[in-house]
Amino acid sequence: MSMEVTAWSSLHSAMNAQQDRRPFSRATVRRIAAFARPRRRELYRFLLLSIVMALLAVATPVLAGRVVDAIVQGKESGTVIRLALLIAVIAVAEAGLGLLTRLLSATLGEGLILDLRTAVFDHVQRMPVAFFTRTRTGALVSRLNNDVIGAQRAFSNTLSGVVSNVVTLLLTLTVMLTISWQITLLALVLLPVFVLPARRMGSRMARMQREAAAHNAAMGTQMTERFSAPGATLVKLFGRPDDESAEFAARASRVRDIGIRTAMAQSTFITALTLVSALALALVYGLGGYYALRGSLEPGAVVALALLLTRLYAPLTALAGARVEVMSALVSFERVFEILDLKPLIAEKADARKVPEGPVSVEFDGVSFGYPSADKVSLASLEEVATLDSRGGTEVLHEVSFRAEPGRMVALVGSSGAGKSTIAQLLPRLYDADSGAVRLGGVDVRDLTAASIRETLGMVTQDGHLFHESVRANLTLARPGATEDEIWDALRRSRLDGLVASLPDGLDTVVGERGYRLSGGERQRLTIARLLLARQRVVILDEATAHLDSTSEAAVQEALAEALEGRTAVVIAHRLSTVRAADLILVVEEGRVVERGTHAELLAAGGRYEELYRTQFAAPEAGQAQGAPVESV
Ligand SMILES: Nc1ncnc2c1ncn2[C@@H]1O[C@H](COP(=O)(O)OP(=O)(O)O)[C@@H](O)[C@H]1O
Ligand SMILES: [Mg+2]
Repeated sequence: MSMEVTAWSSLHSAMNAQQDRRPFSRATVRRIAAFARPRRRELYRFLLLSIVMALLAVATPVLAGRVVDAIVQGKESGTVIRLALLIAVIAVAEAGLGLLTRLLSATLGEGLILDLRTAVFDHVQRMPVAFFTRTRTGALVSRLNNDVIGAQRAFSNTLSGVVSNVVTLLLTLTVMLTISWQITLLALVLLPVFVLPARRMGSRMARMQREAAAHNAAMGTQMTERFSAPGATLVKLFGRPDDESAEFAARASRVRDIGIRTAMAQSTFITALTLVSALALALVYGLGGYYALRGSLEPGAVVALALLLTRLYAPLTALAGARVEVMSALVSFERVFEILDLKPLIAEKADARKVPEGPVSVEFDGVSFGYPSADKVSLASLEEVATLDSRGGTEVLHEVSFRAEPGRMVALVGSSGAGKSTIAQLLPRLYDADSGAVRLGGVDVRDLTAASIRETLGMVTQDGHLFHESVRANLTLARPGATEDEIWDALRRSRLDGLVASLPDGLDTVVGERGYRLSGGERQRLTIARLLLARQRVVILDEATAHLDSTSEAAVQEALAEALEGRTAVVIAHRLSTVRAADLILVVEEGRVVERGTHAELLAAGGRYEELYRTQFAAPEAGQAQGAPVESV
């Protein structure tokens, strides 16, 4: 690496280093060591190679000095040729070993990225839903990309920067001092003149770089928000495109200003460095030449000193920034470890068991629950706020108790915001109850394995989210092994076969981000098809047909009825037809079960259910409700 590049990269890392000066715990260092441990052997090889490289680097100037001496002393040509050949051999060896060193450091660095990245991805994936509702996706993705790479870069830089530079520096200095300690010391006098202002400039640049990063992030957010189909629609309908553009332009031009200043700073820095080392070189020639003329120094020694000097400044400037480099490595590592250390609120027990075989009952036993506040589930640094909101945590469910017998259907009704979806989310353990117990087949869900809960429980949610993948991939999420026939059967039963068959790539058509290219109703039918395909023993429907018009709902009802056949079901209902078929109806209001019974019982009681029946259910279905037979779902 050339002197300029090394020196610049050390200034650059000083600029990017985080400002916070938290004392770093030994624990962090120990954990980094633990991450590096599997790569111990490569690490030793790298260190060994660095030392050999440093030795070779010092050898060439010394040999060049010998050549000059041989010429001056008028030795026979054989000596000169032998020395020249040796220099050539060293050059070839340096080239080969240089490549090998790079291979080793790249293997080490990229291996570290791989380890950290997979560890973070795996960990984040296991975080509870609450974490994702509280965390900005962008911040999380940047942690996975930038910080992991930052940690790696700092790690490799520290290795090649610090270790090999210390070795090169010590060797070079030793050789120079043995040749002429006076000249060596004088040549170094100029160094602080250059290093000190450079460091001050580094911290000013750091501030600007952070500002630029913030602007870039804001522009990124603006673009991803506005350039998505729903965002663009919103801008077209309500937005002010001129203001949006002006805001964007203001940020972009600030980034331009910072870019120009950074470029100038870089040039100034490199020019200053080149100048200082050129001045030092002049000093070596002047002073060394003077000594040589007086006979107290060999001419070859002057040449050797001059050549060595050019190899001295790079490691010196690099080491001046070493502390910063080590710090920034530690910061990046800490930011990654911070994520790995987030304890998921919901974790599988070590001795978790499977849901018992056979039909499964669903039971809520005095369940109270409040959504966890942000400080319990997320990290302040992921939200870019100093402290996390500790508010929230107000109880949403109070002492909810009910039991769905195996194969029976419980329907939940109530106003919007009453807590019905919340009840549904406690079953698959998207959240854990604060008190009381949720049981599947008589076993507390907290004692069950996540895999067996997934196998047992199928859910159709309100929003019917689809991955930006093929129809097939979205369908087989819950049953990767499903055959072509089974997939088409499920599609037929959810009345989607016609639509999917008409798509350009059939089952392999990619449904857009958030399933945008499908209508709400089609999306919902797709999630119903997924449920039919997976055939779990317990089914939760959260307003599963809310987005369907009455014609397509009637069509899907049949399919749902089949899906529910013989299964335990918790159905959040918004249509009378669904409610009437339930074995037990719970009226939920403000987080409490205020009434329970069958349709007939509750109507007769003339309470909240009767009111709901009149206002919510009866009105839109009046025509159907009178004559039509009760549908089975
Ligand atoms: N992720 C969440 N974080 C905090 N509060 C929530 C969250 N989801 C829902 N709530 C609140 O919980 C209450 C019950 O909501 P929900 O169960 O969705 O009602 P329903 O499904 O009956 O319409 C509401 O007051 C709602 O604002
Ligand atoms: Mg709801």
